[in-house]
Amino acid sequence: MKKYMNETLKVIAERYSCRDYKSDMPNDEILQAIACAAIQAPSAVNRQPWRIIVVKDRQLLQEIEEAALTRLKNMEDQSAYNRIIQRGGRVFYNAPCMIIIPIEKSNYSQIDCGIVCQNITLAAASLGLASVICGLTGLAFEDSENFEKFAKRLGFPDGYVFGCSVVLGYANTTKEPHEPDMSKIIVIE
Ligand SMILES: Cc1cc2nc3c(=O)[nH]c(=O)nc-3n(C[C@H](O)[C@H](O)[C@H](O)COP(=O)(O)O)c2cc1C
Repeated sequence: MKKYMNETLKVIAERYSCRDYKSDMPNDEILQAIACAAIQAPSAVNRQPWRIIVVKDRQLLQEIEEAALTRLKNMEDQSAYNRIIQRGGRVFYNAPCMIIIPIEKSNYSQIDCGIVCQNITLAAASLGLASVICGLTGLAFEDSENFEKFAKRLGFPDGYVFGCSVVLGYANTTKEPHEPDMSKIIVIE
């Protein structure tokens, strides 16, 4: 498995989802490099159906986090809420920064958004930052009143919806990457 290794493969192998951040804000050059990696992602028909919104406003992040947590708490199925409570009650894990990716509603735009997320996490890892893709942020946009409020403050273009988000920062505690499950690979000769 490790016969071939280079810088790219090393970053892929070493990335992990971080759920505990220091409060230090990454500098603007680093955030810009990550945002540039995001917009270099491939997309169906090169449609680029996204915006890359880098949120450094801690107050705004806290408000979005609270809205997501409230939504989670009010859900009939409490399993996700309980998981978050076990992890310290924070949806964004005290991270100082988040990239939110609103997308057009079009064919493949969710896949395009996923690729953007991966570019962000790998670029972040290559620059010494930790990250976690955070789908739960979407809970804060489910209720139409909250959607209007946050979409306006974040500058979503008309017709765009929440796609996904990636939490970013410096790891307070690290963890091992997940063990690759080789049984998932099937080769037909
Ligand atoms: C689309 C997507 C949404 C995710 N949403 C969350 C989330 O809301 N909160 C979270 O802590 N992790 C989230 N994750 C991270 C996964 O839980 C994580 O990637 C998985 O457990 C594998 O761990 P690893 O990233 O360390 O390899 C998400 C991952 C993906 C791909």
